[in-house]
Amino acid sequence: MAATGGNNVPNVHSSIDSSNKTLLKSEALYQGFMQSSPDEAQLLRMLIKLTGAKNTLEVGVYTGYSLLATALALPDDGKIIAIDVDRSCYEVGRPYIEKAGVAHKVDFREGPALQHLDDLLADEANHGAFDFAFVDADKPNYVKYHEQLLRLVRVGGTIVYDNTLWGGTVALPPETPMSKLDRRFSVAIRDLNRRLSEDKRIEVCQLAIADGITICRRLV
Ligand SMILES: C[S@@+](CC[C@H](N)C(=O)[O-])C[C@H]1O[C@@H](n2cnc3c(N)ncnc32)[C@H](O)[C@@H]1O
Repeated sequence: MAATGGNNVPNVHSSIDSSNKTLLKSEALYQGFMQSSPDEAQLLRMLIKLTGAKNTLEVGVYTGYSLLATALALPDDGKIIAIDVDRSCYEVGRPYIEKAGVAHKVDFREGPALQHLDDLLADEANHGAFDFAFVDADKPNYVKYHEQLLRLVRVGGTIVYDNTLWGGTVALPPETPMSKLDRRFSVAIRDLNRRLSEDKRIEVCQLAIADGITICRRLV
């Protein structure tokens, strides 16, 4: 049965059957979780290793699942600047990052990602200094993160966007009933997808796994 949003219309995103798209075969396991899926974490890990990424960024940490996957994949002298508006969730996952012996790679920064990325851009030494970035925070700002990250990630580097299908809503007719949040995020992601597909500065690979993952390689 479809979940409902606050205004009693189907929450299309929450009602997607992820059991046939991801490694975890029970929809119940996904209820209430904001973290990436295990297959997505594997993909991030493999991308980092294949590209030899060392200096990385993450926008949207939550309890640190994708952060841990990234930190484990990085070489011992690798770094990840991890940004989230809310430190409390990160603190829940931090003991596991420490237990895994990778805490020395993590530089957590609390606050709005737009501001933190601007702060990084203020130092020219950071321009093109990052090999890899993973974006999994507030969807309406993805297009702004994209412009910032294209200056921070080096030519040949990788930017990965999560949730780029938003439960399949991006392909639904505009009049389809859905919650206000789904509509707002769906419109934002649809706009992002159009811009990415037209962006000559990047090469794009859209994957229909998890909730949709878009991998961008910076060309110029
Ligand atoms: C989907 S969760 C991230 C999940 C995480 N990547 C994982 O795999 O476990 C989204 C996170 O983005 C954070 N967030 C939302 N808006 C933000 C913003 N403007 N700047 C930074 N973080 C933000 C939220 O606090 C939340 O922890």
